[in-house]
Amino acid sequence: MNLVFLGPPGAGKGTQAEVVCKHFDLKHISTGDLLREVVKNKSLMGEKVKEFMDKGLLVPDEIVVQIVSEEIKKNRKGFVLDGFPRNLAQAEFLNNSLSSLNICLDRVLNFVTSPEKIIERLSGRRICPKCQAIYHIKNMPPLKEGICDKCGSSLLQRDDDKEETIRERLKVYTQLSQPLIEYYRKKGILVDVNGDLEVQVLFEVIKGILQS
Ligand code: AP5
Repeated sequence: MNLVFLGPPGAGKGTQAEVVCKHFDLKHISTGDLLREVVKNKSLMGEKVKEFMDKGLLVPDEIVVQIVSEEIKKNRKGFVLDGFPRNLAQAEFLNNSLSSLNICLDRVLNFVTSPEKIIERLSGRRICPKCQAIYHIKNMPPLKEGICDKCGSSLLQRDDDKEETIRERLKVYTQLSQPLIEYYRKKGILVDVNGDLEVQVLFEVIKGILQS
């Protein structure tokens, strides 16, 4: 099964992708996580990527497309693409590259989430820089404050979870990513899901959709 998770920043795509991938034994391909790994390397490319991410802008297509294409080729068991595609050019690239590999995209889940939830979730999000686990100070706190349950590393707030950058990311989402909703609806594979639901409740909804 090959899936795309679409939705604004903070809609809960990464959180659901983890649960869905574990349940259905799929590979979680998060372009945000992959790009944060590139930034960690402190290479020239990493510096360039960081500049875009810190401003809440999309990283240039040629960089992202190369990363995604390697991940898809490595994939053996089906995937959830989380954060890709993010504009029409990336969607066309995905279409062509999946066709050339004889792979089809089964479903695109569109996380419909209210602006109040987005702000509340992003301002309280904490992430593990080592294993990428996602927490929330109120909704999903770790067992020990500030420490990752899975690997014991200190949790961090993402650099782009500052109010000003969140505003820019939302603007970019509306301008460049929202047209993808129509693009995939026309292909007949888009399903809207209510991103405001509690994590486990939403997972049950998604499970129902994927098993139907
Ligand atoms: P990326 O990392 O993909 O960020 P995003 O799309 O903005 O999405 P987020 O990770 O912010 O939110 P999410 O929907 O995954 O929510 P989460 O599950 O964490 O991209 C970052 C940057 O990388 C971009 O700005 C861009 O610069 C670059 N980039 C990435 N992909 C690119 C591409 N294809 N092209 C170009 N550039 C690209 O949840 C958020 C919080 O809410 C967490 O604290 C979580 O615990 C909590 N939560 C989640 N679900 C629930 C729930 N149901 N109920 C209560 N709390 C919840």
